[in-house]
Amino acid sequence: MAKKPLTRKTTTSKSVSKKPTQKATVATKSTAKKSPQKKTTKKPLDNLSILKNSPYLKKSAKSQVTKKDLTLKELFERNLLSHREEKMEIVLSGQYQEALDLIYEADASNLYPILVGPPGIGKTTLCRFYAQSRAEITGNSSFEWITFDESTKPAHLVGSFNPATTIQKGFSFEAFNPGPLIKAMLNGGLFLANEVNRATEYTQNSLLEPLEEKTISIPHIGRIKASRGFFFIGAMNPSELVGTHRLGEALKDRFNVWIELDYPDKKTEMKIIEHNNPYYKVNESTLEKIYLIINRTRTHHQVQTPASLRSGIALARLTGVEQKKSKREPNKILQEIASSVLYGAIQTKPGVKVNDVIKSIISQVVGST
Ligand SMILES: Nc1ncnc2c1ncn2[C@@H]1O[C@H](COP(=O)(O)OP(=O)(O)OP(=O)(O)O)[C@@H](O)[C@H]1O
Ligand SMILES: [Mg+2]
Repeated sequence: MAKKPLTRKTTTSKSVSKKPTQKATVATKSTAKKSPQKKTTKKPLDNLSILKNSPYLKKSAKSQVTKKDLTLKELFERNLLSHREEKMEIVLSGQYQEALDLIYEADASNLYPILVGPPGIGKTTLCRFYAQSRAEITGNSSFEWITFDESTKPAHLVGSFNPATTIQKGFSFEAFNPGPLIKAMLNGGLFLANEVNRATEYTQNSLLEPLEEKTISIPHIGRIKASRGFFFIGAMNPSELVGTHRLGEALKDRFNVWIELDYPDKKTEMKIIEHNNPYYKVNESTLEKIYLIINRTRTHHQVQTPASLRSGIALARLTGVEQKKSKREPNKILQEIASSVLYGAIQTKPGVKVNDVIKSIISQVVGST
């Protein structure tokens, strides 16, 4: 099998980090004879300093607590999402822009869209981004979601009665804890039914009335009508995947806009990986290899469940952080890290050893281990 040449453009990439390890190494080699001072050599960091300086662990100046540690209640209040609204940004090229346009159009036409695609393709991310855009446009930030599974019951959508208050006040609205669907309906907000085909038929059926009539019955209280603006998005993995039920015909019929998402094209996926790896940048050539490794899992004849976008992001972050502490050749680093990331991320066909597949993919892309 043809090996990819190891020669890479090391300095021309757009996404080269400020001081990539390889660049520093090259500079050292060429200046070593002239000057005995190793000024240009960047000392590799050890585990401790990497962890100490990790942007994922370091407290931001804003949230720095100097006086005392916060109590759990204080932490809860500080971390409440409504108080910490950070503007979300995503990569919107290729299929993502098209899908977003369709969601806008469905919302404007009072139709319900559903996103269908394999795990980790960006369905939830796109819906969260849409919720943010919708809130900016309409001024209504109501966004509720639930991720369905076998044990999700209609009460998880509708809500339930607080036993203590119910004893005191009876089945009244005061005793009622509204579920996410009721909240979205009353607020005229957006409801995301994530993994909707993982719900049992019984639970799926509780969505029929809200979708068709925009009404729902709250036991003991009455039937409510959704406020103007109520919008419903479904998201699911294709039905043939393990762990999914079939979407019931009646529910299927109520989703009128089917948006299929697949693994993104090379350029888009590389952008997504970069976007989600803001701190440990890798150069363009490494990024491309990361993409190729991930992409090969999707075309490999012995792979049943390939790697998702999450694996590419993990590979980039780990490779980037490893480059900070090791002077080793980027290909060597990638070889090691790829097997740690892919081991649990892909599922091979029966009788095929996952390590064998990983080895063959890695050797095709970066050379043999
Ligand atoms: N368009 C995008 N821009 C930036 N990052 C993205 C984009 N799409 C996906 N991602 C990233 O890819 C990862 C997986 O995305 P997400 O969780 O939305 O996938 P999903 O399709 O909902 O997966 P699942 O089926 O497992 O629920 C996330 O880390 C997310 O940040
Ligand atoms: Mg999801």
